[in-house]
Amino acid sequence: SGEPIIGENPTVAPLDRVRVDASDQVLTTNQGVAVADNQHSLKIGLRGPTAMEDFILREKLTHFDHERIPERVVHARGSAAHGYFETYESLTDITRANLFSEAGKRTPVFVRFSTVAGERGSADTVRDVRGFAVKFYTDEGNWDLVGNNIPVFFIQDAMKFPDVVHAVKPEPHHAMPQASSAHDTFWDFVSLTPESTHMLLWQMSDRAIPRSYRTMQGFGVHTFRLVNAAGESVFCKFHWTPLAGTHSLVWDEAVKISGADPDFHRRDLWEAIEAGEFPEWELGLQLFTEEQANSFPFDVLDPTKIVPEELVPVTRVGKMTLNRNPDNFFAETEQVAFCTAHIVPGIDFTNDPLLQGRIHSYLDTQLTRLGGPNFHEIPINSPIVPVFNNQRDGFHRQAIHRGRVNYEPNSLAGGCPFQAGIAGFSSFPETITEDKVRGKPELFADHYSQARLFWQSQSVAEQLHIIAAFRFELSRVQFPAIRQRVLSLLVNVDPILAEGVADGLGIDLPAPAPLATNLPTPNYEPSPALSLLAR
Ligand code: HEM
Repeated sequence: SGEPIIGENPTVAPLDRVRVDASDQVLTTNQGVAVADNQHSLKIGLRGPTAMEDFILREKLTHFDHERIPERVVHARGSAAHGYFETYESLTDITRANLFSEAGKRTPVFVRFSTVAGERGSADTVRDVRGFAVKFYTDEGNWDLVGNNIPVFFIQDAMKFPDVVHAVKPEPHHAMPQASSAHDTFWDFVSLTPESTHMLLWQMSDRAIPRSYRTMQGFGVHTFRLVNAAGESVFCKFHWTPLAGTHSLVWDEAVKISGADPDFHRRDLWEAIEAGEFPEWELGLQLFTEEQANSFPFDVLDPTKIVPEELVPVTRVGKMTLNRNPDNFFAETEQVAFCTAHIVPGIDFTNDPLLQGRIHSYLDTQLTRLGGPNFHEIPINSPIVPVFNNQRDGFHRQAIHRGRVNYEPNSLAGGCPFQAGIAGFSSFPETITEDKVRGKPELFADHYSQARLFWQSQSVAEQLHIIAAFRFELSRVQFPAIRQRVLSLLVNVDPILAEGVADGLGIDLPAPAPLATNLPTPNYEPSPALSLLAR
């Protein structure tokens, strides 16, 4: 029993203290009283009514009546596994984050993969984005890298997130369709939101029907900051690359598997780990300075853009191995709470307006989903380092805080921790001298250059799959105006793509959607990349 040994420094999540094995034990009530008969309720005569005093029956039914918690508002369907991350070499010149401090350092992780739109019991192989959320239990607290298998997103600003999710979820009047993007509301929204064009290309590509969670890439999507001990900062994009290769299904396979085995990805991950075929990913970083970022033909704060590898290469800095299945789906996979606000010293946010909204949303939703402010004490969410602060009480409090002092400043002895000063987390002191406004930077308005870049990066077979996916999805859209608007976005990406889709739908090509910018089309010629790791 116990956590698997993960290496020479087996730092592990302390789950042992809460593991329960009831084999060969007497059945008890929740108060520990042994139950004589678990088959029959207490009745007034064998054919009479049940006695109100049957506290054993009432406890059993009451617990059952409350066994469900709300599913996640997005990413409800998921599967997870434990493992570890191992750093290849010290990155202390780039980040003070301890998990990257020395070659060979191992950090336990819990990783949850998910679909986005479907409900908790929906099928795995639908066309959808996949979540790729990693919780690192570092020795300086938890760091969550809450990413997706596609490196860009539908929208540029958190203000639009509830709208895109309402559009993608089943329609509110009849709750159809389940787990599919093929419906009017989704295409209505994206056709009116040209910034989603790049993401649409990825979503209609084979990337949205992965072969296995084990063969998916993962991306942090946003630009983050890394900060070293001297307070110097560089921008960073995070990439996970599966060592088994990146593989997808084809549409006909995905549709058949959806019916034949809705648990296809969950089963594949579980069985691979049980068989000792541990899935592995390398973590890659794209590192670039603020000066470089200013020279790019796009804004690095725009989450609908990638940083092309021709501009900044990806440097592999470590490897993640998943080597143990959860003991209990609800306790671990369902109760795990990832949050973009969970960062550690050496890692920081940027002003990406989508990321900024996410920093709020995860904790907020989890207050409802996990029942109050103490869900960080649920074992799967607890850091491996101790937690000391003056946050007290609330529903389901586990810790018993000692001492009379739970406030600061104080002069009385007992109970109050002290702040860490420079040893603790402090935000990167970015200088900002701008007006407080609503709106977006000019470069955010180029919606098509990178969509075209992605289209051009695809092989002919992959391009045909994209055309077929648009044809299938749009053929199910009832309103001709919506189809026309999507096509007018595609005309701006590539004529062959737009004509291929229009032909399949039997309609004429519309005029291109008006460009929201007069900027020249960016030039993605490779420029000499500054490799901060070259030393
Ligand atoms: C889950 C909000 C954008 C990846 C969630 C949840 C919320 C949320 C409320 C449910 C969390 C829970 O119940 O535990 C938002 C908002 C966004 C946004 C407000 C934009 C403003 C993104 C983006 C990504 C992403 C851009 C990818 C980079 C995920 C993942 C999960 C998730 C992977 C599932 C985590 C898990 O496995 O438990 N999001 N999200 N989200 N989100 Fe986002």
